[in-house]
Amino acid sequence: MPYEPYMKELIKKVETTRSARIQAAKEGKHFPRLSEADGMKLMKEFHPDYKEGTKRQLAVGPSKGKVVPNELADILEAKSSLNSGTVDLSRIDYDVDVLVIGGGGAGSAAALVAQEHGARVLIATKLRHGDANTMMAEGGIQAADKPNDSPPIHFLDAIGGGHFSNDPQLVKTLTHDAPSVIQWLEHLGVMFDKDPDGTMRTLHGGGTARKRMHSAGDMTGAEIMRTLRDEVRNRTDIQVIEFAPALELFTDHEGRCAGAILFNFETEKYTVVRAKTTILATGGLGRLHIQGFPTTNHYGATADGLVLAYRAGASLCFLEATQFHPTGVIFPEQNIGLLITEKVRGAGAQLLNADGEQFVYPLETRDVESSAIIRECSERNKGIRTPTGRFGVWLDSPMIEVLKGPGTVARDFPAKYRQFGRHGIDISKEPMLIYPTLHYQNGGITINSQAETEVPNLYAAGEVAGGIHGINRLMGNSLLDITVFGRIAGKSAAEKAKQTQPGEITLQHVQKFHEELKKAGVGDGRISPILLPDYVGKIG
Ligand code: FUM
Repeated sequence: MPYEPYMKELIKKVETTRSARIQAAKEGKHFPRLSEADGMKLMKEFHPDYKEGTKRQLAVGPSKGKVVPNELADILEAKSSLNSGTVDLSRIDYDVDVLVIGGGGAGSAAALVAQEHGARVLIATKLRHGDANTMMAEGGIQAADKPNDSPPIHFLDAIGGGHFSNDPQLVKTLTHDAPSVIQWLEHLGVMFDKDPDGTMRTLHGGGTARKRMHSAGDMTGAEIMRTLRDEVRNRTDIQVIEFAPALELFTDHEGRCAGAILFNFETEKYTVVRAKTTILATGGLGRLHIQGFPTTNHYGATADGLVLAYRAGASLCFLEATQFHPTGVIFPEQNIGLLITEKVRGAGAQLLNADGEQFVYPLETRDVESSAIIRECSERNKGIRTPTGRFGVWLDSPMIEVLKGPGTVARDFPAKYRQFGRHGIDISKEPMLIYPTLHYQNGGITINSQAETEVPNLYAAGEVAGGIHGINRLMGNSLLDITVFGRIAGKSAAEKAKQTQPGEITLQHVQKFHEELKKAGVGDGRISPILLPDYVGKIG
């Protein structure tokens, strides 16, 4: 649906202020950036994380007492669909060195490296191989590989972006390994954006002191996922089972992880996988729709890995903080929640209210930027109303054409150019209407810099793991994290498998967890993992 006439009238206000804003941008004059203290103050008033009544303390499990969003607490404090009698555990369908649960970027990177270290690897993935948030990631991957940059500068940006809450050891690993993973990805075939002389093109993201965002148009994640998936499929000794989510981990009598039970969506049969070591790479929680927000996430992002690891005894961290991406589509209605990459702001587009005024520095960290948009649409009443009564602000993409030359929008943002074009909106000429959307699970399973969880023989990598980003991740550190920690998990798990004899597989931890739920009087008959979002009766 193209913009309605009243919206086109409002766009005129954006056009009125555009040339002065472009002139200021050319002179290097920017809307003032908020101090750390002012940013925190803004967040406490407007960021969804600080809204009362939206979270609660966990009543059971290794992180009992920690606060998480209600929607997550509901599935962590729930029963398994399995207990010791449900499945015949004496029949082992697959017996492998390394089981990788999750077929996104982290799982695929882990499988490749585990195989290179001599492991017999099986990937089990809930949907198709590559149906993952990696595929949906747009803007880029950070790496300090330019002469004016360095891993320590990248480290400081990441720690600052996390408001100094991140695990410094994990950030050190992330930023130190970044330049080498860019080389690894390029070697595997990722086609990064380059200048005619072959130099990698890099841009700023929110909260970065240097231009270190490497991209492939506005489909960087799809390009990385395509490459990793092809590589896995070409190595025919890596087995992949699709449409087979994990329902539960196995533990042995010493409490070590010993594989997992899968549920085959196609045959509706259980599959028993015994593994010397297991890597959880199941991604995030966007499809829990925290506080009713729409999401950028893929359909399978239902926090399964958190549920499984928690029952097996792994603690969780930083899940009190959820990332809302500032620029999600709010119009056209069909695309609500879809990501508009931060790279659009990195290329010069500004955020404007209904009067065509700037109200925030465009590259604040995501939590601060989102808070400013929510304030503009609520307290200040300067949002633009959509035909169905939602509110948003403008993202002035036509500025990019003036700043960087005609044709830049179509060339650098081909996916968004086409997506909006289908609805009769030319984003090289008209601004986009946006509002924050649920984007990322900042925290997750506690890991160390070898990607080990607190459960022996269980590893975690990618969005399911926590600590790297603290309470807020910077753009481009997720594609980086899945690759860096995916690779580390693959190596660690393969090496550990060499020294591990598989024990008897049991579901005793599930039984113990059920007893704890009963004792605490929580659970209310809920079953998890939920595997797919439940939209029945919730739409329309
Ligand atoms: O804005 C984006 O392109 C998102 C990237 C990310 O979350 O890293």
